[in-house]
Amino acid sequence: MKIENPNPIQWRFSERAQQLQSSFIREILKITQQPEIISFAGGLPSPATFPVEEMKAAFDKVLTTTGKTALQYGPTDGYMPLRQWIADSLSKDGAKIVPEQVLMVSGSQQALDLLGKVLIDEGSRVLVETPSYLGALQAFSVYRPEFASVRTDDDGLVPASIAPVADGARLLYSLPNFQNPTGRTLSIARRHELVETCARLGLPLIEDDPYGALSYRGAPMPKMVAMNPDGVIYMGSFSKVLTPGIRLGYVVAPLPLVRRLELAKQAADLHTAQLTQMVVHEVIKDGFLDRHIPTIRELYGNQCQAMLDAMAEHFPAGATWTKPEGGMFIWVTLPKHINAMELLDEAIKEKVAFVPGAPFYANEPETNTLRLSFVTVPPERIRQGIAVLGKLIAARM
Ligand SMILES: Cc1ncc(COP(=O)(O)O)c(C=O)c1O
Repeated sequence: MKIENPNPIQWRFSERAQQLQSSFIREILKITQQPEIISFAGGLPSPATFPVEEMKAAFDKVLTTTGKTALQYGPTDGYMPLRQWIADSLSKDGAKIVPEQVLMVSGSQQALDLLGKVLIDEGSRVLVETPSYLGALQAFSVYRPEFASVRTDDDGLVPASIAPVADGARLLYSLPNFQNPTGRTLSIARRHELVETCARLGLPLIEDDPYGALSYRGAPMPKMVAMNPDGVIYMGSFSKVLTPGIRLGYVVAPLPLVRRLELAKQAADLHTAQLTQMVVHEVIKDGFLDRHIPTIRELYGNQCQAMLDAMAEHFPAGATWTKPEGGMFIWVTLPKHINAMELLDEAIKEKVAFVPGAPFYANEPETNTLRLSFVTVPPERIRQGIAVLGKLIAARM
C-alpha cells in the first residue's frame, strides 16, 4: 500500500548543500556529447588507449584464483601489494616511500575531498594556482575555505608569489606537470624553489600529478615528493594511464596525515573496491605500463601537434596559446575584450565546443581565456574545428 503525503516535505538542505554547484564542464559535456559536435571541451582520456583485453584477462585471473578475497570487503588503506608497487615506483625517484604512506582512493578526486575534510576549516586559507583544476576548487569549496591565488607564468607556479599570501594558510595545491587547464609544466629550478619555500613557511604542499607520465618527449620531470617527503602530499591516478572508469587513485602523505585521511575515508566509503585494486595490480605488476604509456604519449603527442599546427594556421594574430610538452590540454589567451563564454555560444552553433577559462579561477577570472583538449578528436576533425574557431575569433578581433 502506498502511503500518501498530506504534508509534503519541505526539503531543508544544509547550508553546505545549498552552496554546491555543478561543475561547468560537466554541464557543457552534456551538450557536447552529441556526435555532430567537434568537442575540444572534454577532459576525458581517449578510449583508444584503454587496455580492454589486459583488463579482461586480469579480471578473469583474479576472479578465478582469488575470487573470494576480491569480492569481500577490504581494508580502508587499500590492497597491500598495490600500495607496495606504488611505494616502490615512487621510491625510484630518490626518497624512500613506504607502503604505509600510500592510501588507495576511489579516483584521485576523492583524495581532494578527503584532504579538504581533514585540512580545511570554514574560512581557512587555501592557496591555489591561477588558474587551477576546477575539480579541486569544487572539492575544497565544500569546506568553505578562503582561496588565495598564487601567480603562474609559462614556467608554472611563481614561488615568489607564495609568501605574501601564505599567512595562516593550510595548504598549497599545485599541479606541476602538464597542468589542467593550461598544459604548462613547472620548471625544475622552480620545483626546488617551491619545495624550499613551502618548507620554510611550514606550508603543506599538494603535488597533484595525474598527467606526469604523459610527457611526449624526454623523461618525466622529477617529483617534488622525492625532494621533501615530510612536507609534500603526492596524488596519483590510474585514470590517465589505464582507464578512468575503474576510479582508482592514491595519495601519498606523511604518516600522521595519511592516518587522518584513512579515518575520513573510512567514514566516506569504508574502502575502494578490492576487486579493481587487485585487477589493476595484476595488470601492472610485470611492467605493462612501461609498454603501454609510450603508446598514449605518441597518440596524444601527435594530436597535440595537429592542433598546434592548425592553430598556427588559423588563429589570428593577438591570440596566444601554450605549447604543452605532454598531457591533454592547450590554453588559449585572447585579447581582453573577447569573452570566451560568448564565443562558446557562437561556436556551439557552428558545432564546435571548448571550455571557457573563467571557471578555473578561484578568484578574479580572466574571461578572455579558454581550454582546448585534443585527445579524443582525430587530426582531421581537429583541423576542421580549429579552422571554425579561428574564423569566429578573427571576427571578434
Ligand atoms: C588535475 C586533476 N586532478 C585530479 C583529477 C581526478 O582524477 P581521477 O579522480 O580520475 O583520478 C583530474 C581529472 O581530470 C585532474 O585533471
